[in-house]
Amino acid sequence: MRIVVCVSGGGTNLQAIIDAIDKGEIRNTEITGVFCNNKGAYALERAHKAGIETACLSPKDFEDRESFNKGFLKTVDKFNPDLIVLAGFLVNIPATMVDRYKGRIINIHPSLIPSFCGVGYYGLKVHEAALKRGVKVSGATVHFVDAGTDTGPIILQKAVEVLQGDTPEVLQKRIMEQAEWVILPKAIDMIAAGRVKIADGKVIISEEQ
Ligand code: GRF
Repeated sequence: MRIVVCVSGGGTNLQAIIDAIDKGEIRNTEITGVFCNNKGAYALERAHKAGIETACLSPKDFEDRESFNKGFLKTVDKFNPDLIVLAGFLVNIPATMVDRYKGRIINIHPSLIPSFCGVGYYGLKVHEAALKRGVKVSGATVHFVDAGTDTGPIILQKAVEVLQGDTPEVLQKRIMEQAEWVILPKAIDMIAAGRVKIADGKVIISEEQ
């Protein structure tokens, strides 16, 4: 399975995918490209070190969002992916891409959806909201991307304890280490093995063959 990974920041989820492929935890999968909207993202460094082709386009480089979206879609098409993985990617996915890659775009969100998700909930803001609410458990979710924000069918979730005295940064790190970097590679491996189907808007996962 050919995947393109879209990133915007540190790329620790990209690194988890690279490492999982190297260790054979993600089978029959190749990262054909990394797309980034931020030239200074360390995620690009990680891709270069792994010898993965990168492309970097920012909406700021275009006169309007529509022309960026055209460039974004054309660039991703050139990598000819079977699956698009959003890993810490902070740009809205254009409807044209959601349509063309229907059921073939997944995202990692650092909370247990439907909590603390949707417009405005990204990065540390997610964990600030969880701590403000006083939840005792948070975690991460891998889901398919549809026309909404964090609203597509859920594939995998993993819960993580919230501890007394947690700061947003401490909680974010625990959720990344204990949840994100575990379920994102696992979801990719399951999709590559053809074990993930969508029926009536719900994800059905078949047993390992
Ligand atoms: C992570 O918290 C991820 O869940 C969110 O973006 C943050 C940075 O991810 N989507 P990464 O280190 O760039 O993979």
